[in-house]
Amino acid sequence: MATMESLIGLVNRIQRACTVLGDHGGEGMSLWEALPTVAVVGGQSSGKSSVLESVVGRDFLPRGSGIVTRRPLVLQLYKTDEGQHEYAEFLHAPKRRFSDFDLPGLTKVAVEGQPDSIVADIENMVRSYVEKPNCIILAISPANQDIATSDAIKLAREVDPSGERTFGVLTKLDLMDKGTNALDVIEGRSYRLQHPWIGIVNRSQADINKNVDMGSARQKEREYFESSPDYGHLANRMGSEYLVKLLSKHLESVIRQRIPSLIALINKTIDELDAELNRLGRPIGADGGAQLYTILEMCRAFDRVFKEHLDGGRPGGDR
Ligand code: GDP
Ligand code: NA
Ligand code: MG
Repeated sequence: MATMESLIGLVNRIQRACTVLGDHGGEGMSLWEALPTVAVVGGQSSGKSSVLESVVGRDFLPRGSGIVTRRPLVLQLYKTDEGQHEYAEFLHAPKRRFSDFDLPGLTKVAVEGQPDSIVADIENMVRSYVEKPNCIILAISPANQDIATSDAIKLAREVDPSGERTFGVLTKLDLMDKGTNALDVIEGRSYRLQHPWIGIVNRSQADINKNVDMGSARQKEREYFESSPDYGHLANRMGSEYLVKLLSKHLESVIRQRIPSLIALINKTIDELDAELNRLGRPIGADGGAQLYTILEMCRAFDRVFKEHLDGGRPGGDR
């Protein structure tokens, strides 16, 4: 039976194979590009780390004022079959597993001594992820700033003008000036997207200092919306839990839609690799051939699992 977790597990493994072994998609769409990715983007201190933690359901990223998480992070989460052991891995540092969800070494990279080009370099790197049509964009904007100046919306407007793969996330609703509200943004009048805007109340810096855990933060957020004169009528479509639900549903439908084309791509990749291996005469032990052989075996394994998924849980069918 195809479950969301097993599908995401597959996507993780293929992405890892592509990263470690290089991309073998030939011309046209590559395997890497056929898989959905999620990018969390937004200006400094807009709440990116906080939202990412909510989506992942774990405290593990450094948060605070100033630039704390300085570089774009590519994160994959793993769960063992028994669900007993969870760990996270960053694609720029494979083999380093973070099971305590602490990230030594990644925090507080010195601001001094950075080359002047660092801002442009980071921006270009982020753009290279979000411009891909397979990237789902979580565009984070703080409610206590004018949406017209939101870095996230500027970027989303540029790379996804129709708004079909952008989820607008409005953080810091609790920090708006008294007597103002964000209904123009949340109801899509300020900037229209195809997915609904989601308002969020993350932990404040004071909450973080007091070690308020995620469960209590969610509870507080729920109470905020339920008791709000401005947003009470929207309470069941606001908040971190709803964002996670919406994103999971969207990811699942994207992955299910992609399975047939993934199978086709994998078969094509297998054919290409087979031809190349035949040409090389399968030099067992020789580095190039061995690497190709590994990819081939992986593709075949994925192909088998995909077929099982198709037979066991038809796309769009019930689970
Ligand atoms: P990032 O720089 O975009 O990753 O932002 P962070 O998630 O690190 O958040 C920056 C600061 O804003 C932290 O002190 C957070 O506690 C605070 N913050 C983020 N979201 C909210 C929110 O919805 N409400 C309040 N009150 N504070 C928030
Ligand atoms: Na911003
Ligand atoms: Mg951050």
